Amino acid sequence: MKISIIGQGYVGLTISVFAADHHSVVGFDKNQGVVDALNAGKSHIEGVDSAVLARHIASGSFKATTNPEEIASSDVVVIAVPTPLTKDRKPDLSFVEAACKTIGEYLKTPALIINESTSFPGTVRNLIKPEIEKYSSGTIAHMYAVSPERVDPGRTDWDQKNTPRLYAGLNTEASKAVRDFYSTFCDNLVEVSSPEVAEAAKLFENTFRQVNIALVNEFAQIAHALGISVYETLAAAATKPYGFMKFMPSAGVGGHCIPVDPSYLADTAARVGVPATFIERANEVNLEMAKYVVDRVAADNGGSLKGKSVQVVGVSYKSNVADVRETPAGLVIEELKRAGATVTWSDDLVSTWMGEPSTPLGGSDIAVVVTLHSVTDAAAVIKSAPYVFDTTGKVKGAHSL
Ligand SMILES: NC(=O)c1ccc[n+]([C@@H]2O[C@H](COP(=O)([O-])OP(=O)(O)OC[C@H]3O[C@@H](n4cnc5c(N)ncnc54)[C@H](O)[C@@H]3O)[C@@H](O)[C@H]2O)c1
Repeated sequence: MKISIIGQGYVGLTISVFAADHHSVVGFDKNQGVVDALNAGKSHIEGVDSAVLARHIASGSFKATTNPEEIASSDVVVIAVPTPLTKDRKPDLSFVEAACKTIGEYLKTPALIINESTSFPGTVRNLIKPEIEKYSSGTIAHMYAVSPERVDPGRTDWDQKNTPRLYAGLNTEASKAVRDFYSTFCDNLVEVSSPEVAEAAKLFENTFRQVNIALVNEFAQIAHALGISVYETLAAAATKPYGFMKFMPSAGVGGHCIPVDPSYLADTAARVGVPATFIERANEVNLEMAKYVVDRVAADNGGSLKGKSVQVVGVSYKSNVADVRETPAGLVIEELKRAGATVTWSDDLVSTWMGEPSTPLGGSDIAVVVTLHSVTDAAAVIKSAPYVFDTTGKVKGAHSL
């Protein structure tokens, strides 16, 4: 089959390389730099091996392009574009709408359209289908389906092949077609009764994580005030063999999913008249962790950080990836600067960020560890400054949450 994948980021490129084992794949992206790098066999995504990409390019099973005409006559089109929030934290579907315009204008034969971008229940039925029909004059009978992506960047034990994949079509024909497509490279397909259930399940999965992370972050503050170790207490609670799931405290949440998706659910809740106070509060607790961390560091250092030099160690939003989207390190740096500190950062995987280069480890009065990668030597981190505060629980001998 000819498969076109709109958006060649974490989700789109990951799907592209798996699908290219079985199909002819066109990776459409509006970013010329991304497209040029991909066609040169260079992957910009953790978990997508450049050698695998280069093999697909050499065999002709994958090609990246910025030319929308190349999606014509596709059998399947997958939408994998960003779904961020607006400034006032409302769903921003502008990228999805732009993708629909491209599909509507350039796909002139009937195809299966699958949305993998995370969005609220009703997106495929009430937005994607009408939007594509608007631009294709509604004359082409496409099939529509949703299959939310669950890729966890940097993870190797669960991938496209073995992670159970939810799916649902707008009708039985679309459900069968979407199953046929994914079963060429996914082992475990789970059909649900409607696209709305699949869309809501994806939002709930990430809201579950956000709320539990907020809960453990609040508990870390309670444990500290009680003078007990949050880590020892969590390990103790985790000996219960049922009804408990361990989440670890941190400087906050980051990435494209956890800080964003719950707000899509909260927005949906508001539209159907249900107050989502719990979701909103979890978001606030996680955002407030940066200030809590900086207040703890200041308290340990004579009550003020004025004139102190602080190095933030690890700025990506989680270990072993270079992704800095929505990283809590940004908020920690803001709070440190607000407290009067001069701030540098060091990250073994991120070379430049916000226009600044990573600095070599050491040379500051204080180090604050936000993320610890496997390649970063914890023993070197503890020696890097006279005072080290660790939000990861992995640096032995450091002050911690
Ligand atoms: N990153 C993850 O771990 C993850 C996991 C599950 C679901 N998701 C969801 O998948 C979707 C995509 O996320 P991502 O992380 O892959 O984003 P990304 O930012 O890594 O990549 C998106 C790509 O889409 C391109 N793009 C934007 N608008 C376009 C358009 N109109 N036409 C063509 N290309 C366009 C961008 O240039 C970019 O290369 C989002 O809805 C996200 O919530 C992401």
